[in-house]
Formats: sequence, C-alpha cells, structure tokens
Amino acid sequence: MALTRLFLVVLLSITMPLVFFSRAAEAGGAAGVSYGTIANNLPKEASVVDLLRQNGITVIRIYDASPEVLTPLANTGIKVVVMMPNKYLTAAAASPSYALQWVKTNVTAYYPATQINGVAVGNEVFNTNPEFNSVLVPAMTNVQAALAQLGLADAVKVSTPVAFDAIQYSYPPSAATFKGALVPVMKPMLDFLQRTGSYLSINLYPFLTYTAQPGNISLDYALGNSKDGVRDPNTGLVYHSLLDAELDATYFAMEKLMTGSSSSATAATEAIGAREGLGDSMATNKGMRVTVTETGWPSGGGPHRGRAQMTLEAAADGAPAAATVANAQAYNNYVINRVLSGDTGTPHRPDADMDVYIFALFNEDLKKTGPDDTTERHFGLFYPNETKVYPFDFRGGGGGAPTTTESWCVADASADEDLLEEEMGYACDSADCSAIEPGGECFDPDTIVAHASYAFNSYYQCNDRASGSCDFDGAACVVYQQPKFGNCVLPSNNLKE
Ligand SMILES: *[C@@H]1O[C@H](CO)[C@@H](O)[C@H](O)[C@H]1NC(C)=O
Ligand SMILES: *[C@@H]1O[C@H](CO)[C@@H](O)[C@H](O)[C@H]1NC(C)=O
Ligand SMILES: *[C@@H]1O[C@H](CO)[C@@H](O)[C@H](O)[C@H]1NC(C)=O
Repeated sequence: MALTRLFLVVLLSITMPLVFFSRAAEAGGAAGVSYGTIANNLPKEASVVDLLRQNGITVIRIYDASPEVLTPLANTGIKVVVMMPNKYLTAAAASPSYALQWVKTNVTAYYPATQINGVAVGNEVFNTNPEFNSVLVPAMTNVQAALAQLGLADAVKVSTPVAFDAIQYSYPPSAATFKGALVPVMKPMLDFLQRTGSYLSINLYPFLTYTAQPGNISLDYALGNSKDGVRDPNTGLVYHSLLDAELDATYFAMEKLMTGSSSSATAATEAIGAREGLGDSMATNKGMRVTVTETGWPSGGGPHRGRAQMTLEAAADGAPAAATVANAQAYNNYVINRVLSGDTGTPHRPDADMDVYIFALFNEDLKKTGPDDTTERHFGLFYPNETKVYPFDFRGGGGGAPTTTESWCVADASADEDLLEEEMGYACDSADCSAIEPGGECFDPDTIVAHASYAFNSYYQCNDRASGSCDFDGAACVVYQQPKFGNCVLPSNNLKE
C-alpha cells in the first residue's frame, strides 16, 4: 500500500498533464449549468447529454433525480448535483430511514458511474415553502448521515439553494445580514455546512436587482464591468461588478452569523479554524466556500418588474431594455470566463474559490410568468432545438464575449518574489521559457515580474488558457489587454479567433 502510494506520487510529479489537472482541480472553481425542465418541447435527455459533451459542459445541476438524466450521464465524467424536492423534506427530517432509502434510490443506484457530487436538499425553501423552514436542517442532517453511512460523505456534499433575498440590507455589502426571521435556520445550517465540509448555496441574479432599481444601478455594473465601480463606504472596497457585491454581501452575512458579531472575515474564519482544528489552511484564508447555484440573464421577454419605471428611465436616457441577447451574452460570458480564468475572488475575499451554475441550459416555455413578465422563459443558453441563443464557451477559450476573445496571464506585481521564482520554475518545467534566458528576446527587462509574467503566460497559452492554468498559487492573474514589458510583447496563441 505504502509502496503503491510512493509510486503514485513519483508518477504524478513526472507526468506533466496529471500535475496540471491536479492543480486545476484546486484552483478557482467550476462553471456549470442548471438543467431546468419546465417545458414541453425539450430534447430527449440522452440527446441533452450529447449536447453537454459537445459543448464542454462538465458540471450540471438538475431539479430532481430523474433516471432519464442520471442514466445517460454514466461514464461521461460529467458531475451532477441532484435535488430532493421540497415535498419530501418533512419525511426526510422525521425519518433517518426515509433519508437512507432516498439516498439509495437516487444516489447510490447511479454512483460512481454517474458522478453525483452533491445533493441539494430542497430548493429556495424560504421563499417557496416557508412552512418547511424548521425541517430543513434536520432533513439535510439525515441525508448527510445517510451518505456518510454509505461511505459517500466526502464524495457527495449536502447543501440547499437559498435565494438572495434571504439577505437583508444587501447594500453596502459590509452591512449585509441574514433576515432576522431566518437566523434560527441559517445559524445551524452554517454550522452543519462547516462541520461536513460543504458549501453555502445561493442564487444570485444581478439582473433582478438591476430591474428592481434601474435608476440606481448602471447596466455596466450589473453586467460585471463598471469602469468607475461602486465604493462600500464602510470598508473602502470598490466593486466593479454587482455579482461581486452580492457575493460579498453573502460572505459578510455569513461571517456575522458564524461569530455572532460583526468582526472581520479573518477573525471569523480564524475562530472557525481554531474550533475545527483546521490550522491556517483553508479556513483562515478562504472561509467557507460559496456556490452560486443559479445566476443568469434573460435574452428576451418583457420587463421583469416596475415596467412604468423602466420605461421612464429608458425614455430619459435612451437605455435599452435589460433583457436582450447582447446583455445575456455579455453577462453569462463574463461569469463563465471569470470562473474559468480562476479569478473567483471578490474584493472582500480575494482568495475565495467558487463554483457557479448558469441558469439555465434551455429556454423553458412553461415557466410561470406575470402579466408584465415573460423574461422567466428566456434564461436559456440554448433554444429547445439545441441551437445556441448566442456564442459562449465552457472550454476556457474565452470565446463568446466580444471583449474577452483574447487573454493573457501575468504575474501579480505585489506577489512575494520567492513565490514568483518558485512558480516560474514550475511553469518553465513544461512551457517554453527560452525567450527569458540571457540573450533571449524577452530577457530584458531583467526583472522577476517581467520574467514570471512571460513564463506564466507561456504556460497559460500552451494549455489553451484552460481553467486553473493561470493560478500559480495566487501569484498570477488574467488580463484582457496584450501586456508589454519593455520591448517584450507577451504572445497569445489564440486558437479560437
Ligand atoms: C428518490 O427516492 C424516493 C424513495 O426511494 C422516491 O420516492 C423519489 O421519487 C425519488 N426521486 C426524487 C427526485 O426524490
Ligand atoms: C437607490 O439606493 C438608495 C440607497 O440604497 C435607496 O435609498 C434608494 O431607494 C434607491 N433608489 C431606487 C430607485 O431604488
Ligand atoms: C432554433 O430555434 C430558434 C428560435 O426559435 C430559431 O431562431 C433557430 O433558427 C432554430 N435553429 C434551427 C437550426 O432550427
């Protein structure tokens, strides 16, 4: 056994692609898709699995545990989170044996051929079935205990998607707290998630925030690329993306609940680290992971809310309607490319890892709509006939977003020099670094930041700018303007455009 392990370690360290993937797995997070099916015209599930594979979508969520989806997912390597519908929460909370039977039928029957990696116990319970609030954490506890009993505690994590309106006072982010009425549920839930190594699941829709108060929020900010940004007066942190502000509101609300005070992230996470004996590794630096179980932007349909106000605003400044193909393309590509680049940190949690699921795979024609609201039916990345509504790319080619078709990886100038040296050595073990050797065309300027940038970029480009290939232990970042050091222009190896 020990010998086999030693052999494996040696193998891993000499086999470049394996090393690469092992690093990619720990970096940043994954970009996936929520596969909703409230429609009467969607393709057969087996055909959908082919569509996922053709488009490089390797992480999905479904809203049940349908055999029609889980069976064709077998042996595809696609990871899937299944869901226990709200109507079973009471039974799962009351009866460990019900939870065990549920897990056997809906998880172990498919695992490991089908890579189920999570169970969502309920969905937006606070909004849709508040009568189940009190059974939510007991149900999660019993489902997790069943998974543990079956040896799946590490492979399959239990969480529950929460709508963003669980948070009160979301602006400025540092002022955010969970709604008082939800504290008796959220506090034990966060303890449960921490104890079981799971993550908080939250659904974030900058689109909804924007359409609720268009006069206050710029479209650029809602789409993730405000130039000026919005400053949190309490922390001085500047936000260029409403998604980041909503994420930080979530982190701040969690921290307050987990320490019972409004002390800083570091204090909160250190306290947790000390209590759980986690040392200074993940808990101190990153805190509990947050997964965005839904985010997205509709490509069509009527205004969601406040039509009169929207129309006034539009008339006043000539602003286009929010739900357009161009905006949906911009927002969803911003989210996908951000996660694929490994850049999942926020102003308050620069080291945070995060998984994101775009809502949704298809336009769903039976989603409920109000008299003024048909946007709900237009969140899909694909039409039901499997044609893309607009370009996007889950393979990390940066395709689809007009501003991000090319990208480069550079060293963070504020990073520790020893770290840069070490990571540069790592990059140059597999990438071509001859240009930064004495006499090479990029030897000048002879600085660590310039040389490390060359090396990191070389590694990033030769891995096709794949997810996690610009991490370098946090000492690197992705940029969208071609970088130049002296006369040395960092090359791009753009295979897509
Ligand atoms: C899961 O399992 C239970 C019982 O074994 C079954 O009744 C239920 O319909 C299954 N599916 C879902 C999505 O809960
Ligand atoms: C804009 O934001 C401010 C500060 O949060 C708030 O008081 C105001 O009501 C908002 N205006 C609109 C139109 O939503
Ligand atoms: C798929 O459906 C969309 C929307 O109805 C339509 O615009 C597009 O032309 C269709 N594509 C094909 C290949 O039929």
